Amino acid sequence: MSDLIGLRALYAQTAHLYEQAVVPAFGPLANDLARWVLRCAAAHRRATLHDPFDALDEALPVNELHTELGTLTALDLGTGTGLLARALSPALGRVIGLDVSPDMLRVAQRAAPGNVRLLAADLHHLPFRRGAAQLIVSSFGLNASTPKKAFRAIARVLRPGQGVLAFQEWAAEDDVRATIDRTLQAYAPPDIPGLDEALRNFLDAPSPWNEQLQFSEDFYQMLKETGFDLVWAREAHFVTVHLPSIDALLNYRFAWPMRRFTLEAMAPQARAAFLSDVRARLAAFANADGSVDWAPSLFRVFATM
Ligand SMILES: C[S@@+](CC[C@H](N)C(=O)[O-])C[C@H]1O[C@@H](n2cnc3c(N)ncnc32)[C@H](O)[C@@H]1O
Repeated sequence: MSDLIGLRALYAQTAHLYEQAVVPAFGPLANDLARWVLRCAAAHRRATLHDPFDALDEALPVNELHTELGTLTALDLGTGTGLLARALSPALGRVIGLDVSPDMLRVAQRAAPGNVRLLAADLHHLPFRRGAAQLIVSSFGLNASTPKKAFRAIARVLRPGQGVLAFQEWAAEDDVRATIDRTLQAYAPPDIPGLDEALRNFLDAPSPWNEQLQFSEDFYQMLKETGFDLVWAREAHFVTVHLPSIDALLNYRFAWPMRRFTLEAMAPQARAAFLSDVRARLAAFANADGSVDWAPSLFRVFATM
């Protein structure tokens, strides 16, 4: 069972920085996912979807899909500040962004277009009747869940014969992240006061998602077991995110409280030494103009009910 108190504590400490520090990194990933989901969903409705990873009609602007998808309601699980919900909203009738963190939803509310509704709920217990949903999506919103329980809850509310689940999640850890975390460990003080008990317990707890879903085949098998019909899952570097500087990359990584509190707990001299060291190490990943192209390894999954 996922730790909802810990999750809320984590995102209470992240929400105020999310749009400014995380969205520059996650925005291009969510936008690309939205385009892919909409094209696949339209092809699925036309019964012309043979493989969602085949080249689809890339030229078709997302707005034009509104003619085909304008009556659809999508449910965005772990919507956070509503990034994916916003990207999908021009093409769909309505998007419901669901999240367990009231702090993230408060930020989402500020930027929500008129056809985006927000709902505070746990994705393991979706508050919808059986078969109510046609399209369920998620961008990095499922990885704190207990996967079998989450997929069962999703399968229950998807409409048989028409329902689609499409999402992306993290695959292998990238070298940039490993470099930052290894360097941070070398400078971390023994006491990190910002990390309270709820957060510490959450961070120390095992992750059933990461343990049970390590390869594309694991997604395929678990989705089949939980009642899905056609399932495609692929691991790839689907998107390259262009960040203007190494500091933009650090801002994104340090928006997460475990790293931010570790940095804040360092004495000023140690902090300056850490920052200089990590910037020097990350220079290996930067372009000549100091910008960084970040292409994380992702899983993308498209499954029908
Ligand atoms: C990494 S953020 C991703 C947010 C957004 N989808 C994006 O791409 O920016 C993960 C979000 O999933 C939410 N979440 C995690 N587990 C959840 C659960 N069991 N029920 C509802 N929301 C959950 C978190 O509160 C958080 O806002």
